[in-house]
Amino acid sequence: MAKITKAVIPAAGLGTRFLPATKAVPKEMIPIVDIPTIQYIIEEAAASGITDLLIITSRTKKAIEDHFDKSYELETELEKSGKTEVLKQLKDIRSMVNVQYVRQAEPKGLGHAIYCAKSFVGNDPFAVLLGDDVVYNAEKPCLKQMIEMYEKYNASILGVQSVPESEVSKYGIVSGEQVADRMWKVNDMVEKPKREEAPTNVAVLGRYIITPEIFTHLENTKPGAGGEIQLTDALKTLAKEQEMYAYDFIGRRYDVGNKMGFLEATVEYALRRDDLGAEFMEYLKGIVK
Ligand code: G1P
Repeated sequence: MAKITKAVIPAAGLGTRFLPATKAVPKEMIPIVDIPTIQYIIEEAAASGITDLLIITSRTKKAIEDHFDKSYELETELEKSGKTEVLKQLKDIRSMVNVQYVRQAEPKGLGHAIYCAKSFVGNDPFAVLLGDDVVYNAEKPCLKQMIEMYEKYNASILGVQSVPESEVSKYGIVSGEQVADRMWKVNDMVEKPKREEAPTNVAVLGRYIITPEIFTHLENTKPGAGGEIQLTDALKTLAKEQEMYAYDFIGRRYDVGNKMGFLEATVEYALRRDDLGAEFMEYLKGIVK
């Protein structure tokens, strides 16, 4: 069985939900405390055994490439002034994984963005991590849990969790039969269904392990929900041809593409920090009194 070492991160979206901040700054670079959201995602990938990463970008995303590149001036300056701690942090960012980039010329949807990874992926199963979903699990990263499930089932694995019924229309929703603890065999999928039409409240939350046959399906996928080429639609047809599973991953997931989710992440990540947590907690207690 092929090992999962490649991952794709789509980061071509316009980020309109975070305007005006995202007019000149890619939404993936907006920090939770002091780390850009995309770095949390890449750290999860690296901690899960991913060695090669492809980021799908677009015209306005140059800052992402700069962030994972060497900043010669900055590093020389930090070295001169003896700021070894922060210098090490910057070097660690670069050495985490081997990152490549490809541009999606037009915003034609998530399915189309993933299709841009075809030659990078080749014939191997690969991971997809969406930047709007940040998952915290200090013991075992979400993607690592999913890779273990892939190794057990040797099939595509979708990372899911139950969401409130009022939110099903924001997600790809799966239905199927439960085959083990936290595990469903997928029979059907629907992208952003209306609340009354959703078959379940089990939502795909930005983590996928996908077999390379997906590319044939993406080629034949017509625009779907929102007029975009949807990954969900291609996965749905792939699930008719080969087994596919949905895994209810363990971890606190934040929807950082949404303002409330972003604020929750900011508060909770700050509270977990050794250098900030205690002081920040005192501050919060003071203002909620
Ligand atoms: C995308 C996918 C959707 C998935 C969601 C998870 O939607 O199309 O199936 O449930 O991410 O965050 P988006 O949020 O990009 O509209």
